[in-house]
Amino acid sequence: MKPSSITSLPAWPTFSAAAQQADPLHNELRLIDAAGLTLDLSGQRYSPELAQAGLDLLEQRQFTEQRATLLGGGIANITENRAAWHSMLRQPAAIPEVMAERERLNAFIRESDLARRWRHIVHIGIGGSDWGIRLTVAAFGYTKQWRSVRFIANIDGHAVKAGLADLNPHDTLIVVASKSFTTAETLKNASRAIEWLTAANVRNPLEQVVAITARPEQAKKWGIPDKQIFKFWDWVGGRFSLWSSVSLTTALSVSSDVVAGMLSGAAAMDKHFETAPLALNAPVQMALHGLVNRSVLGISSLNLAPYDSRLMHLVPYLQQLEMESLGKSVDVCGEAVPVPTGPVVWGMPGTDAQHTFFQWLHQSSDGAAVDFIVCQEAEHQWPSHHQSLLANCLAQREAMLRGKTEAQAYEECLSQGHEPEQARWLAKHRTHQGGRANSLIVLPRLSPYHLGALIALYEHKVFVQAVLWGINPFDQWGVEYGKILATDITNELQNQPCAKTHDPSTTYWIEQFKARDL
Ligand code: F6P
Repeated sequence: MKPSSITSLPAWPTFSAAAQQADPLHNELRLIDAAGLTLDLSGQRYSPELAQAGLDLLEQRQFTEQRATLLGGGIANITENRAAWHSMLRQPAAIPEVMAERERLNAFIRESDLARRWRHIVHIGIGGSDWGIRLTVAAFGYTKQWRSVRFIANIDGHAVKAGLADLNPHDTLIVVASKSFTTAETLKNASRAIEWLTAANVRNPLEQVVAITARPEQAKKWGIPDKQIFKFWDWVGGRFSLWSSVSLTTALSVSSDVVAGMLSGAAAMDKHFETAPLALNAPVQMALHGLVNRSVLGISSLNLAPYDSRLMHLVPYLQQLEMESLGKSVDVCGEAVPVPTGPVVWGMPGTDAQHTFFQWLHQSSDGAAVDFIVCQEAEHQWPSHHQSLLANCLAQREAMLRGKTEAQAYEECLSQGHEPEQARWLAKHRTHQGGRANSLIVLPRLSPYHLGALIALYEHKVFVQAVLWGINPFDQWGVEYGKILATDITNELQNQPCAKTHDPSTTYWIEQFKARDL
């Protein structure tokens, strides 16, 4: 890619001016259907000029060529000189090496199921090797399953203690998921789990360990048997590894059908992304609205509001996807991007979120863009609960969109019996600005297919935004830097010599923490 800065593209001035002028309350219904999902963009700024300028920006960024590189397995991750070909993992007829690995994994699952082995699964991994599995297990494994599953991600020993507590070591499978097989948290936690098996006199502890990694040779060094090492490839970014053999834990603890359903929903979204006209392309349009919100209107955060308690892990999952991918401020040439890039992403399922921070969304001076996500149908037997959930979702959104003028609030106060003077004062507190940017994504129901499509929708949206800003969404040098410093400080805390110097505060705390008898 040879980007000029986004602001020097010919279409930028028109795009930026049109975005500022576009009416947030344009009163037009704007729906896009994509892979079974309905995306309602009626709550975003819109005008025909803005829409056209967005398409022009994409053309000036050679978007279709860049999309072809991504989906064709070309070098999309240029700072690490590799592809970002997670879409290949979900193709029904994938390349032979992917098909062969899928078959090996399925054979392991079939054998384990037939033998009714592994009452407990302990999944050890972090970031992309963890959140996607937590997300799917919470979404589909919330009713009783015969296998229990625990997750250990954090280096905090309390997480290890909680993860292993009360399990039967003789019938526990330890799944170690790490693309690099170098992540300190994962390796340390895996060592504790193996010690736990050994301490319980398990006959051959390593026979109860599975490794899923892009570095099988590293897992081998641990003594994990070949037949229990499942690989994925360097061209799968860590935050996309949900689509790889890392899904073993979901297959064993919920079902293989869940994994298959998610893959096919994501593949359907890939197809939509590849073939739908850009004006009706869900990830593309979401990305353009994100660009308006962040880079023109200066809205610094994106709130995710899934109205579905089963999607409690969707927020951290998408936080990693969005913030690890778009938390960059230089473009692929190393030049500073002249506009704000990836927003802060945060959120919580509704209706809990309404009683936590929605006040801020409604009436703070900043506000955020909000993505509401809801399923049309529920999988429980209490229709009135689902109606309330749907009503709350629509109501919050309407309040943000429509707002309430001071005059309306004044009338409301009068009708409630307040004296005019008090009504005038109260009305100021009850005014809602309105016109707050939001999208609504409706899933027919929370099936594996639709969750797969939803995740792929966000993946592709993130990619399009990176193309527009001219940044590489597939590296994470900031995280790597922190990892290196943590390794050095750990060594110092263990009294190993270290040539590094620190700032006075870090030096002070290293000395304080060293003095503690751990
Ligand atoms: O958080 C940084 C990161 O490199 C993520 O991209 C990745 O998901 C996570 O660490 C875990 O990495 P690995 O799968 O290599 O253990």
